[in-house]
Amino acid sequence: MICYFSGTGNSAFAAQRIGRLTGMEVLDLFERIRDQDYSPLQASQPWVIVTPTYAWRIPRIVSEWLEKTPLTGNSKIYFVMTCGGSIGNAGAYLEKLCERKKMDYLGCFPIVMPENYIAMFSTPAPEEAEKQLAAAYPVIEQAAQSIKKGECFPELPRTIKDKLNSGIVNDLFYPMFVHAKKFTATEACVSCGQCVQECPLKNIKLEAGHPVTARIAWPASAAVRWRPSNMASTRKVCRATPVRNPDKE
Ligand SMILES: Cc1cc2nc3c(=O)[nH]c(=O)nc-3n(C[C@H](O)[C@H](O)[C@H](O)COP(=O)(O)O)c2cc1C
Repeated sequence: MICYFSGTGNSAFAAQRIGRLTGMEVLDLFERIRDQDYSPLQASQPWVIVTPTYAWRIPRIVSEWLEKTPLTGNSKIYFVMTCGGSIGNAGAYLEKLCERKKMDYLGCFPIVMPENYIAMFSTPAPEEAEKQLAAAYPVIEQAAQSIKKGECFPELPRTIKDKLNSGIVNDLFYPMFVHAKKFTATEACVSCGQCVQECPLKNIKLEAGHPVTARIAWPASAAVRWRPSNMASTRKVCRATPVRNPDKE
């Protein structure tokens, strides 16, 4: 079973594409995470967890959900991480998580997609985002092929920088940067309340029709979902792959 969490649509897109290519069931974890639903899930096929990369690891809300939720039936588990540039040494932490869950870790596959961390990086031109998405299609297919064949994902080289980023930098990054202090709504807000529904941490409430954060915990970028992000990285990642859209083939 493919389980995904997605802030702005990249991971949702990758999960659904892998689902189509492998014929596996696809489950959006949004409601389970938001509602703190840790009831067991059962699957006969291997598990595939698809998430964005937050500070060179999987998002903490996803790892917390995984720690608490029994995944039964099949003990094999893959991770697919969409990212703006690098997943660092995320695999080492996922391997430990699998040890704790007594599951068989089959690897972690990075897929570079448009950057969505608007708190630090500028939004790219749509053409640049299109190029990144076109380069991501064959990488998504590669991940799907490995899953279909039951193969482990290839091991990734891990540099000292990767280890530092996923370790101490991750520890510092969360309290310093992953919070909702900058969340604001302009005069254009029509008080529809959609942001209240879409926040995965139930972090937004309406006060006299105006959205405000209930507690400081999360960047506003986590609130928009469903489409691949049209934001690309200021960290350049190029892949010389032909531009095509498999969904139109
Ligand atoms: C809080 C936060 C931290 C991020 N940290 C990283 C990172 O360490 N490395 C990286 O390559 N991309 C990072 N990104 C970018 C996202 O991982 C990337 O855009 C991902 O594809 C977004 O997926 P989504 O659209 O499914 O939410 C970060 C984004 C956010 C919001």
